[in-house]
Amino acid sequence: METSRRKFLQGSSTIATAGMMLGLASGKAHAATRKPTLDPSDWKSVRAQFKLDPKLAHLANFFLASYPAPVQEAIERYRDALNANPYSYLDDHMFMKERDMLWRNVAEATAEYVGGKPDEIALTASTTWGLSLIYSGLQLRPGQEILTTTHEFYAHHESIRLAADKTGTKVRKITLYDTSAKASADEMVNRLISAIRPETRVVGVTWVHSGTGVVLPIRAVGDALAKVNRNRDDSDRVLLVVDGVHGFGVLDEDIARQGSDFFSAGTHKWILGPHGTGMVWGRNESWALLKPTVPSLMDSALMAAWRAGQPPKGPVKAARISPGGFFAYEHQWAVTEAYGFHKSIGRTRITNRILDLNGWLIEGLSKMKHVTMHTPSKRDLHAGFVCFEVDQIKPEEVGERLRSKGIIASPSPYANPSVRFSAGIVNNEADIERALKAVRSLA
Ligand SMILES: Cc1ncc(COP(=O)(O)O)c(C=O)c1O
Repeated sequence: METSRRKFLQGSSTIATAGMMLGLASGKAHAATRKPTLDPSDWKSVRAQFKLDPKLAHLANFFLASYPAPVQEAIERYRDALNANPYSYLDDHMFMKERDMLWRNVAEATAEYVGGKPDEIALTASTTWGLSLIYSGLQLRPGQEILTTTHEFYAHHESIRLAADKTGTKVRKITLYDTSAKASADEMVNRLISAIRPETRVVGVTWVHSGTGVVLPIRAVGDALAKVNRNRDDSDRVLLVVDGVHGFGVLDEDIARQGSDFFSAGTHKWILGPHGTGMVWGRNESWALLKPTVPSLMDSALMAAWRAGQPPKGPVKAARISPGGFFAYEHQWAVTEAYGFHKSIGRTRITNRILDLNGWLIEGLSKMKHVTMHTPSKRDLHAGFVCFEVDQIKPEEVGERLRSKGIIASPSPYANPSVRFSAGIVNNEADIERALKAVRSLA
């Protein structure tokens, strides 16, 4: 349930004092909390799981995860084992016996989190890798097009462009809202669906727009597309590709039931997993439509076929799309612990906490006359981003001025830049108040 603003304000002075005490004793407190026990019901205990600099208000949490203790420990455990005997440890846990292959644990934990099956999961190194493998693997017929939006991040637009350039596929971009702060769920879905043409084969969208903070209701898009697809043959079905990275680990929805065909997300942002890790979930019938781009090490049939000098048999599955070459396995395998960390706190609690903290930022900033908000205040239209501009000060300069006050914000790299706050489960009410005070002082 949403925590009220009043409760937040009542609690904030105590928390601010506690935060200051922590700051004063920062050196010792930091060293002493290296292996803290987690009380998942207490946000202070959750924060103590991270080695974040306690002097700073970390409000760019969408960017790259700081590891919670269980993830850090798992990375260290695997790294020590690999350093002690790289050949045997990797051979035993990657190639020798199916049941000992550690990536299978990652696929299982991912499947549980997305509400799907382990064989529907490809393991990648980032959102970007996943998107690129999808678009470069899709076999579009001449004349078919990819429909996407103007709200995608570089990683998505470029994955589409690079793939389409090779085949001459047409790409069309549409705008889902004119004023982001006034975006409406129905209007976004209607604009998208009414832009579909007979030749549209792929719709590529982003769940949470990192340039505006707007949440696109993916499930509603999936439902609407299912209706469009009822009148189409299988070979003309509109496929839904989602860049889901900023909803994954934030919003409490089962990805496998949203109605997409492919969902790509890094697990090194909101999932709080190791850097350089990511996943794609896809339906088995959708995986079968792709041609692999990078040789995989996760489907033993591939190497057997290579040794026999034969093309591999059977349909393409997720494992065949998982890129091969050796990975930083101590990172890939420790993703399991990141899902475990989310589970121990509870997905719904995490969602509510992130929506509360960012909602308070939106509420506070909306009252400032020198601030223009770009993120909608409606609870179902924002997630972990709060995008805004300050009159007469460029976003980059706002970022620098905030940083000089110990507040970490992120100016966005889009064509129309804004300042972004992004509160996560590591933040508390004191961080929010500190950030609001600092922006207020920029008037
Ligand atoms: C919407 C969106 N998609 C993709 C990415 C890139 O993610 P990754 O680093 O996992 O490739 C970002 C970066 O923050 C992003 O904002």
